[in-house]
Amino acid sequence: MTPDLDLKQYLERQRLIVEKSLEAALPENEGPEARVVEAMRYSLFAGGKRLRPILCLAAAEAVGGEIAAAMPAACALEMIHTYSLIHDDLPAMDDDDLRRGKPTSHVVFGEAIAILAGDGLLTEAFVLLSDYHTLLPERALKLIGVIGRAASYRGMVGGQVVDMLSQNKPADLETVQQMHSRKTAALISAAAESGALAGGGTDDQVEALARYGRAIGLAFQIADDILDIEGHTEVLGKTAGSDVARGKVTYPAAVGLEGSREAARKQVDHALAALERFDHKADPLRALASYIITRKK
Ligand code: IPE
Ligand code: IPE
Ligand code: MG
Ligand code: MG
Ligand code: MG
Repeated sequence: MTPDLDLKQYLERQRLIVEKSLEAALPENEGPEARVVEAMRYSLFAGGKRLRPILCLAAAEAVGGEIAAAMPAACALEMIHTYSLIHDDLPAMDDDDLRRGKPTSHVVFGEAIAILAGDGLLTEAFVLLSDYHTLLPERALKLIGVIGRAASYRGMVGGQVVDMLSQNKPADLETVQQMHSRKTAALISAAAESGALAGGGTDDQVEALARYGRAIGLAFQIADDILDIEGHTEVLGKTAGSDVARGKVTYPAAVGLEGSREAARKQVDHALAALERFDHKADPLRALASYIITRKK
């Protein structure tokens, strides 16, 4: 599955499968909480790439498991990711007004509802994960712990703290690498790892896919930093140039654009090496690794 056209079709097919499950997981609501559910749905269905859930499903398949087994984790990851975007865009954080091609949550619903929509998506993710009562308890708890820790102060939240506290400071490579590994790679790695767990992978397979995820996760954020400089607002669906405008510490700020491209390529090589022992069922994961640094949005 190397030709680009195949990957495009694959991404589109998987995106539709994920969206159907997300729709079922978060239906419209008529109670007094309707406004926050509206805001949760507004951001969740605004048109993301669904990369984390697609990775999760692909990891389950790579270890010989079923897509259905990974779907609760896949949807939970997309909810957590969407919450992180809503909060990332808040005036107190990156103060962005465009996301997924639409006005950001706080612009449409006000800050209070936007904060609550993020909280609502984060907690709903763990409600979804309670579907894993059907797995062996040890595996179910491991899976929930993997996703929880990746989203926590150890992972995404911690990386966001480094991001905020480093603003307008000189960019040193070690800080950027640490920050990117936590704010972005942690959740992407959890997508691959939880998919492998849900799909019944062996300990070795789970470890290899977590390693694959850490590498493509770092490559993903390096590519995001490059796109912020070289991409276009209309294609990205978010405002290009916002990192420089906010004095963000980024990979290109630390090592330049060419150095960043080289670093991202190196991470993709690490990711592919982690898949060495997998057969053709890991081909989608191989194609996704390359897509991550060639994407235009
Ligand atoms: C954007 O993630 C935030 C980062 C971690 C860089 P995506 O580029 O996956 O955003 P969506 O989900 O497609 O909108
Ligand atoms: C955000 O990084 C990572 C998250 C955990 C949301 P960025 O701030 O670079 O993400 P974008 O560019 O706004 O999507
Ligand atoms: Mg940010
Ligand atoms: Mg941002
Ligand atoms: Mg960015």
